[in-house]
This record gives sequence, C-alpha cells and structure tokens, in this order.
Amino acid sequence: MSILISPSILSANFKYLERDLLECEQAGADYIHVDVMDGSFVPNITFGPVIVKACKQVTKLPLDVHLMIREPEKHLEAFADAGANIITVHYETCPHIHRTLQTIRELEVTPGISLNPGTGIEPLKYLVGAFDLVLLMTVNPGFGGQTFIPQMLEKIHHTHELLQDAGSNAIIQVDGGVEEKTIKSMYEAGARNFVAGTAVFRHPEGIRQGIAALRAAI
Ligand code: DX5
Ligand code: ZN
Repeated sequence: MSILISPSILSANFKYLERDLLECEQAGADYIHVDVMDGSFVPNITFGPVIVKACKQVTKLPLDVHLMIREPEKHLEAFADAGANIITVHYETCPHIHRTLQTIRELEVTPGISLNPGTGIEPLKYLVGAFDLVLLMTVNPGFGGQTFIPQMLEKIHHTHELLQDAGSNAIIQVDGGVEEKTIKSMYEAGARNFVAGTAVFRHPEGIRQGIAALRAAI
C-alpha cells in the first residue's frame, strides 16, 4: 500500500489559501486535511464549514475534515453539505460514538475516529466496521508545529495489530509532528496516511519539496 499524504491547512498561508491548495494538488498530495477547532475541546479556534466549502471550490482533492470540537454530531450535516469527503470525530467528544459514526456514513461521508495520545485503543475493538479511518494523534491536539510524542509508536503498532486481528481494513492515519525524521518509524509501526502541516507548508524549499521529502523519507 503506498503512503497517503494529507497536508493540514492549519499551517497554510491563509492570505494565499487557493495558491497553497493548488500547489498541494500539483505536488501530488492525496487529501487536504482541515483542522476544525472550537476553543473548548482544544485551546485553539480555527474555522468551520465555510472554509471547507471554499476548499471544495478550489481543489479536487478529497477533504479530510478533523473535528476537534465538542458535540460534533450537531455539525455533521453542515460539514457534509460543505463538501467533506471524510469526517473524523474524537472518541473523547462522542458519548454515542457508534451512532455518530453511523450518521457520518449515512451522510455518504467516510467516517473516521480519532484518539488523543492518552486515550486507549480498546474501544476500537467494539467499533470495527463503523469507521474506515483511525486517526491517532501523535501530539496533543490544538496546534501545528509540535513535537511527535514517541510513545505513540507503540500505540500505532498495537492499533495495527488490533485492526488486523479484527479483520478490519481501516487505514491508520497519524497527525502531529510528522516530518522527515519521524515518518519512517510511524510507517514501520503501521501508519499509512500522514497528516503534515509544518513539514509541508513551512518547508524551506516550498510545498512541493515538503511533500516529496516526506515520501522520500520512507
Ligand atoms: C493538531 C492538528 C494537526 C496539526 C499538524 O491539533 O490536528 O493536524 O495541524 O500540524 P504539524 O504537522 O505541524 O504537527
Ligand atoms: Zn488534524
């Protein structure tokens, strides 16, 4: 399975968002990762469906929407209508996670489940089939440019084993501190979809080089 790169627009230049999106597309990015934050579940506030809609008008790449918000079930339809192709919700914000994942699928959007660094993977066993993507946070959510938490390698490996044992073909996505020096170990642990903000949008030689360097590092 080839690796999938999902640049996170949290680190894009919002003065030139269209330009940055098109550069990602031309540079062979697989998804565009849209970090939605509410200032309550995480300490930062970013953007909502209106930015998803704007991205949809610019790029053909699938929009991978990461909801770091409380009560995400209240906003699923709005993000689906705005053009989200994947909607990932946090296990920590969903008391009825199975139902929420079902609702995303009923909206004909790919359902993803995200776990914060300190959250165990055990619930995944009881949700197999309800999600197509597991987003393992490899930093504490809320900001770009943080350092990868090394204990997450073991968590990626155990998640890979859990999904294999359960017969799930869900993809493991990792998010936070993905860069040239960390991506190979995450791949070897079982990750196949890599969210990268700083490593792509802040690469000294530009977006194309940022994406190419991540692929070359594996
Ligand atoms: C953090 C976000 C990540 C972040 C990644 O809460 O979910 O997607 O933007 O940024 P980098 O790649 O800079 O760590
Ligand atoms: Zn994210």
